[in-house]
Amino acid sequence: MSKPDVSKLTSDTIVEFIGGIFDRRGGEEYLGEPVTMAEHMLQGAAIAEQNGQPEEIIVGALLHDIGHFTSEFGTFSMDDTEDRFHEEAGAEVLEQFFPSVITDCVRYHVAAKRYLCATKPEYFNRLSEASIHSLNLQGGPMTPQEAAEFEKNPNLKQIIAVRYLDEAGKRADMETPDYWHFAPMVQRMVDKHMGAGESAK
Ligand SMILES: [Fe+2]
Repeated sequence: MSKPDVSKLTSDTIVEFIGGIFDRRGGEEYLGEPVTMAEHMLQGAAIAEQNGQPEEIIVGALLHDIGHFTSEFGTFSMDDTEDRFHEEAGAEVLEQFFPSVITDCVRYHVAAKRYLCATKPEYFNRLSEASIHSLNLQGGPMTPQEAAEFEKNPNLKQIIAVRYLDEAGKRADMETPDYWHFAPMVQRMVDKHMGAGESAK
């Protein structure tokens, strides 16, 4: 896969660009899970919406694994022997257009797993086999020092909420709306960021 030219994206095209990724590549396998990549992210978003969670959580869940598609590192495979940092790649594309709460949910969804494994013993039981496999590649549970540092993030609550949706969105049998159902909400998040005067490229 060649790296998409993300430098030409604007606040008017980013929502459609992401939709194109869902449409073209969403059917790809989420390796080790009974769902496709699109189903996985849509399930998280749909569950958040059903639960009446705020739009920033819904959009955070919807986009959390987008880096699997935008990264030159390629996609995660059960054969990987090192982590490929898809979360950082995703956040880098999104941060020009989205509020930091959204990009933090993307950037730290792997760190949140390491955090929760260290601080909530019952959380580990929620993890799928593939997620446990990647946890080991990602450095295992955080040390107490790492966890204390992680807790300083002002968006901690939202990051954790998206992480739980990441675990929830791996059902073989769930119907969800498609990306375009959420697109107006995604655009609202973009508009919020742009309206707030945060830098736009
Ligand atoms: Fe995920």
